[in-house]
Amino acid sequence: MAVFPLTRLRRLRSTEKLRSLVRETALSIDHFIYPLFISEEITKPQEIGSMPDVYQWPLKYLEKEALRINSLGIPAVLLFGIPKRKDAVGSQAYAKTGIIQKAIQIIKSQVPELLVITDVCLCEYTDHGHCGIVDKNGSVQNDASLELLSQMALSHVAAGADMVAPSDMMDGRVGAIRKALDEKGFTTKPIMAYSAKYASGFYGPFREAAKSQPQFGDRRSYQMDPANSREALREVNLDIAEGADMIMVKPALAYLDIIRQVRDHTDLPLAAYNVSGEYSMIKAAAQKGWIDEKRVTLEILTGIKRAGADIIISYFAPQVAKWLRESL
Ligand code: PBG
Repeated sequence: MAVFPLTRLRRLRSTEKLRSLVRETALSIDHFIYPLFISEEITKPQEIGSMPDVYQWPLKYLEKEALRINSLGIPAVLLFGIPKRKDAVGSQAYAKTGIIQKAIQIIKSQVPELLVITDVCLCEYTDHGHCGIVDKNGSVQNDASLELLSQMALSHVAAGADMVAPSDMMDGRVGAIRKALDEKGFTTKPIMAYSAKYASGFYGPFREAAKSQPQFGDRRSYQMDPANSREALREVNLDIAEGADMIMVKPALAYLDIIRQVRDHTDLPLAAYNVSGEYSMIKAAAQKGWIDEKRVTLEILTGIKRAGADIIISYFAPQVAKWLRESL
């Protein structure tokens, strides 16, 4: 009787031992970054309505949360700040006593082994909610914003941040930040560039979480058009030329082809941001009993890795840590 090729492949799928022996992609908690929202406006942790199990944290509770994250084996956090006061130039973004500057100091003094990466962007700190400063017509001023973003990055590393992650998508920001850090002697602090950041509907829940909804217009003049992929490579090339140490693609799920193209295009470490909307969709469907949360989450995260991401930034990180431990 003839043996069909398919039958031979099936032999390698017949037991869990064999399946795991030939498995090409594996998730490890070592490659996860967990985003954390730190708020100056609250005194108790506050769950984000559209993101079940994700909280805004007041500084008072941060040490405890950092210890928990560290004990789960998650290597790094990505910090977002929600300041009490917002103004046209986002001054709390680069104030020495700003919420993130304080948060960095708390984590690095209490849980020094936890890597602290900070989001560098003005949208949570400006009263108009745009990622840079705007002129009187409401258009974002690219070059004038670079100065403020550099100050922001500098204040984060001065407070002890291990890495900065500019997410604003202004042109030239990586070079400007690199120059500012080097001039002050922070030559060993790396930059993770949100190189290919798309103007995406998947950021909806984040904007509730970070209170960063633009008050007028949208972000399409500085974030990328979801229809474009070659442009992503041009953005990546620019960021590499300006000194990026790591590249990010964001969002992840609807952009797996971009992750793959960037992976094949550069040897730099590549991160993918499994953003808020991707999280909320799974949570909502799981709450309704329509999908199996663990199975679907691990399938999506494995897909992101398989597409070529080395690192995944995800609100699922604590859950993944527990699931991966259970399976040991
Ligand atoms: C901008 C920023 C955004 C996200 C991370 N950094 C929102 C935006 O550009 O509107 C989105 C992250 C998410 O949706 O999880 N500071």
